[in-house]
Order: sequence, then structure tokens, then C-alpha cells
Amino acid sequence: MPDASDIRAQLAARRNDHSLPQPFYCDPGIFQTDLTQVFYREWLFAIPACQLVKPGDYATLQVGAYPVILVRGADGMIRAFHNVCRHRGQRLCAKTTGNSPKLVCPYHQWTYDLDGKLLWAKDMQEDFNPAAHGLKKVHCVDIGGMVFICLAEVPPAIADLAGTLGRYLAPAGLKQARVAHVSTIVEKGNWKLVIENNRECYHCGGSHPSLCRTYSDNPRMTAMEGPEAASPDILAHWTRCEAAGLPSRFVHHPQMQWRLARIPLLNGAESYTMSTKAAVRGKRLGEMPFNDAGSLLFFHYPNTWNHFLADHAIVFRVLPISATETEVTTTWLVPGDAVEGVDYDLTELTEVWMATNDEDRQVVEENQAGILSPAYEPGPYSTLQEEGVIQFVDWYCGTLDARLAPPLAAE
Ligand code: FES
Ligand SMILES: [Fe+2]
Repeated sequence: MPDASDIRAQLAARRNDHSLPQPFYCDPGIFQTDLTQVFYREWLFAIPACQLVKPGDYATLQVGAYPVILVRGADGMIRAFHNVCRHRGQRLCAKTTGNSPKLVCPYHQWTYDLDGKLLWAKDMQEDFNPAAHGLKKVHCVDIGGMVFICLAEVPPAIADLAGTLGRYLAPAGLKQARVAHVSTIVEKGNWKLVIENNRECYHCGGSHPSLCRTYSDNPRMTAMEGPEAASPDILAHWTRCEAAGLPSRFVHHPQMQWRLARIPLLNGAESYTMSTKAAVRGKRLGEMPFNDAGSLLFFHYPNTWNHFLADHAIVFRVLPISATETEVTTTWLVPGDAVEGVDYDLTELTEVWMATNDEDRQVVEENQAGILSPAYEPGPYSTLQEEGVIQFVDWYCGTLDARLAPPLAAE
């Protein structure tokens, strides 16, 4: 197992603007460090709030070693808990999603309220204190209809993101949206390869024929390089959208942990469809003012990227499974009153990103296969095309290095 100083030495020795040394993509010890220093400490995107429609609706997910459950309470609030019974530790809910008026452990039927309180435990002795055995809480915040969780005891500040993301998402009215489809795939690649691949479109022309009908692979069109690099087309799009009440300009976290920008689609396309027209006909999300509002792009490291269009939204969640396996969950959201088969066709809505995800899975898996070769050596990123990857890798290395640094000696 590499210790903190080994990993810091490898970080210090890496070549800037190059892909990472091999161990960062496959070493189980570095993977464990990624979990403890990144995934167990950062805010993670969990689910869209509208996935839990009514009290008792729940969704579960696995973050490294931690099973987590999110549940909508009788008061309408979404809460997150460790999905672990306080009796002898049974996993409370094994299903990915469901509804239950109370959370009942399948082992000895200890019964918890939707707010985590222990309500009932059969035949426990007199001095047993139910109040001390409620479900353990996980930090949970709903920002504009996107629910984030944090496993850390003291989570990092989220006020800046909450304010900005909340403002950018408001016109999409995501809380009133409906889940049209969920797809979960496992990619045989390290989680960082999944994020790296998402952060550039250098590969799009060669890999994504259906996405490229509507999504530009020109980094200046997709604002990958920063607000100063925006093309006149993007500037015109921002002016038009902001005049219609849609926050659109490129905004970002100082270390680029997150970024928001609304980009136009190609040639006035309305949505990620094969026809380039809106997939949902005659209805838009929230108060979106026109069909050709393009896509509001939002990423947040380490685990999400998203597209918010006028007619639907697509949210992505990345969860690491092992050093060389990653789960990617894609959820399509449509206006709350849109009816499948009437207002939209499910295949038409999902086919471009179903294909794109599978194409990305293939490139990630081939990337991992090549990196496992002893002949692999870190190669140079294109500063023109892969600025987003450089930003991600720099964020990752800086975060890891700072967290592995020995605490400063007291004066
Ligand atoms: S482990 Fe849950 S009730 Fe016993
Ligand atoms: Fe891709």
C-alpha cells in the first residue's frame, strides 16, 4: 500500500499537462486514497429530487464502502442516512429504489421512521434507549432539484455553489420535473478516466456520430477553455438567453471544481435528438422561454456532469467501484406533465445519449486496457482541445496533495 508520502512524491514527479502516471489509474492503494480523501470528503451528486415523488420514496447508492439511502419524509424533506441498521448492522434497504411507509430492517424488523428515528425494536431490555439508536445521518442538500450528499463529518462549504447553481437551475423548474428514464452502466475503467473523457470533445468526432449532429466538438463553442475564450456565437447566445431571464454566462469555482455555462447547440438544434428537434413536443421544462436555449452545462468534481435543455435534462452520476471499474448512472428528466407516448417518444428522447454513453464506455475501457500495459507512459494533453482535462487533473492532484500533506507543526 503506498503511504501518503509515496503518493505525494508521485504527484510531485508527474509531468504537468500530461496524463497521470499508471498507478493513479489502477493501483488499489491509490484507489483507496481516492475514496478516503476525495469521495468520502466532497459533496457528491446523488439523485434528482424529483426521483423521490412522495413520502416514503427512497433511493440507495453505494459510495465506496458506504451504503447510503435517501428518503423523502412525511414532511416532504429529502434526508440521507447510512443504510445500516443500528441493531447488528444489516443493510436496511437492498433495492435501488422503492417506497415504504417506514424503514424496516429485514433481519429482526427494527423499524425506523422516515426521519431516521427508531420507532420499534422487539423484546429489547429495559435499559435499551431507542433515542440513541436512530439511523446515522449523512449530510444532504437539495440545490435547485439536484440532491447532493457528503459523508464527511464536517462537509466543505457549499454556499457559493448552492447560490449560483440554484440561480442557474431555477428556470428549469427541476423540482416539478419527472424522471422519464434511468440507465446505469458499469465501465471497466478508473473513475478519473471516466471524468477525463467527459471533459474533452477531442474524441467526439471519432466516437459520437449521433451526438455530433447537435453538439459542437469545437472547444471554443462549448466554452471548455474559459469565459475569455468564448466565441462570438456563444457571446450572442448568452446575451439572448440572459435577456430572456436565463442565467447563462460561464461561472466557475476558483479551482474549477465546478463550472456552469449555457452553450448553443449546432445550427439552431433544439435538443440531443437525431432529428435535432425537441424530443418533448409542445412542453418545456419550468419557465424555459424558447426551444433553442441550447444546453446549460454543469459539472462538479468528483462525480457529476449535466445537460439542461429547454425540453428535457440529463443528469449524470459517477461512482467508483474499484480501481478499474466505475458505475455511471444517467437520468432523463422531462416536464412534470409530459406523458410518454403522447408528448414524447422514449426512444427518441434517450437514443443519442444511450449511444453516446456506450461509445464513451468503449473508449474508457480501451484507454484503461492500454494504460495497464508496462509500455504506457503519460502522454501530453492538447492545450487547445483538452484544457478541461488539464483542469480536472490539476484539481485532483492539488486536492490529493493538500489532503495528504502533514499538518503544519504548531508555532
Ligand atoms: S440487524 Fe437490523 S434488526 Fe437486527
Ligand atoms: Fe464522449
